[in-house]
Amino acid sequence: MSNVRGDWNPQQYAKFADERAQPFHDLLALVTPRVFERAVDLGCGTGELTALATDQLEVREMVGIDNSPAMLGIADQYMSSALHFVRGDIGQWTGSGAPVDLVLANASLQWVPDHAAVLARWVRGMRDGGQIAVQVPANAAMPSHTVISEVAHLDQFAEAFGEAGPPEDPVADNVLAPEAYATLLHDLGCTRQHVRLQVYPHVLDHSRSVVDWVRGTTLTRFQKVLDEATFAAFVDEYERRLLATIGDHEPYFFPFRRILMWGRLRG
Ligand SMILES: C[S@@+](CC[C@H](N)C(=O)[O-])C[C@H]1O[C@@H](n2cnc3c(N)ncnc32)[C@H](O)[C@@H]1O
Repeated sequence: MSNVRGDWNPQQYAKFADERAQPFHDLLALVTPRVFERAVDLGCGTGELTALATDQLEVREMVGIDNSPAMLGIADQYMSSALHFVRGDIGQWTGSGAPVDLVLANASLQWVPDHAAVLARWVRGMRDGGQIAVQVPANAAMPSHTVISEVAHLDQFAEAFGEAGPPEDPVADNVLAPEAYATLLHDLGCTRQHVRLQVYPHVLDHSRSVVDWVRGTTLTRFQKVLDEATFAAFVDEYERRLLATIGDHEPYFFPFRRILMWGRLRG
């Protein structure tokens, strides 16, 4: 499947599938088993993990929601009598019709601003006793991210970004501290909760593999606004500066901070 420029690239995203799946497994482990009549996976991506959650939690009706045609194009293959996918904006999702028993969101909430308002909308879509399980990266202060921001503000790219300037880092702008999520869940009526910061110990082939990793996620925002040649120059400069910062190691230990949160609404 070819990548639509500016959309997600499922093949690039899948390159570190095992590493990216582990937090999802950890997130599912937080969910208390019960009969799940209705659930949603917000920012479901390619749908593979949505299908896994549907089977593992025995969800009767799961809806995966994403706004990427490329990701949803892959997800279609996992459709079943219990699982379907729709295009939509997770920042605005608040449920329609019957309230859901479970809201899942793995590595997607960071892409939308104003988490207090978004989580309030998500919880409004849940029934009492329903559960919410969300995972977000919390690595904005790591070199993989800070060096991107450094390159984005170089004079050589100023013209390409124009008056709007470079796209900001959604993780830096949007992701809150673990205790802020705990407070939000409490204020939204989650009488039980579990919020933690976890460092995932990834061992990558080489320091350069970090570039490949971020190509599948955070660099997509630059690919959207730069032409092909400028984007290539951007990535080259990023790689040069990144290696100067983290060193040229083979293998490379890549610690990755993530926040996992779970809450049960009243009941
Ligand atoms: C890092 S991927 C995670 C995919 C999947 N949850 C997983 O764990 O593999 C983030 C996903 O969020 C989706 N996304 C980002 N912003 C969105 C929005 N405002 N509305 C819907 N989906 C969004 C992207 O299209 C992408 O598929």
